[in-house]
Amino acid sequence: MSILLLKSMLSIVMVILAVNAMFTMFEAFGRDEKRHDIEKLKIIHKANGIIYIALYIFIAYFCLNYILQTKAELSPRAAFHFVFALTVIVLFGLKISFIRIYRQFYRHVKTIGLLIALLTFGMTGMSGGYYLFATEFGTEPLRKAETNRGNPAIAGIIVKTDPESIRKGKELYESKCYFCHDAYSNKKEVGPGHKGILKNPILPVSKKPATPENVANQLRNPYKNMPSFSYLLDEDVENIIAFLNTL
Ligand code: HEC
Repeated sequence: MSILLLKSMLSIVMVILAVNAMFTMFEAFGRDEKRHDIEKLKIIHKANGIIYIALYIFIAYFCLNYILQTKAELSPRAAFHFVFALTVIVLFGLKISFIRIYRQFYRHVKTIGLLIALLTFGMTGMSGGYYLFATEFGTEPLRKAETNRGNPAIAGIIVKTDPESIRKGKELYESKCYFCHDAYSNKKEVGPGHKGILKNPILPVSKKPATPENVANQLRNPYKNMPSFSYLLDEDVENIIAFLNTL
């Protein structure tokens, strides 16, 4: 099972935990006459919270490890995810401290709990939910699901040769590609070296024809393990290709 699929499944479990936490909170504090034993609800709520945090740490470990290993720039979606996750853990810490230490703030605990649940829904919808949806629950590779959207703009790229485009492309390359690729050799870093990338007949890993279209495609819907740069503007992609063409 791919790690993304595993993470997505776990995030669904986190949503279920969040719903359960909300339910136990509402049942415990929201009704005029109580239907359930409050002490029991509290125990369920607490156990729920402990499992939630355990899963959170487990998933966060994989995410951070991935970032460390690839040193990839975060895509906008990943960046949002990161901010959401950070907010959740800070809120969680506040909530616990308001229950245990700063009791004067206890009245805020319920609102914070709700916020954590809502952020969990948002995060899962945006990441795990998106992944499961786009891959038809892990049965289709993500790349294929993304390719289906098509990107007419990258069909038939004319390689620019003016110095300005090459300069901009080089800058982009140095900020986005350089962690994983060596421009001036064929030595493998994380990914293959890029010397002569557009002069060789085929691309080094996928063995597809070395056309600008296939390179652009590699950025939009990467072959295998490279992160996607689908957020780059067409113009940026063209400039990167202008630079790659000089190697
Ligand atoms: C996080 C590391 C990483 C970053 C950043 C990265 N790549 Fe890659 N790239 C890879 C890996 C890994 C491969 C090889 C594919 C594989 O084995 O999964 C690859 C392969 C490629 C290939 C060859 C594809 C093929 O079909 O053989 C091209 C071209 C490429 N990258 C271009 C770029 C460009 C341009 C950028 C910057 C916009 C970039 N890469 C940023 C990791 C990265």
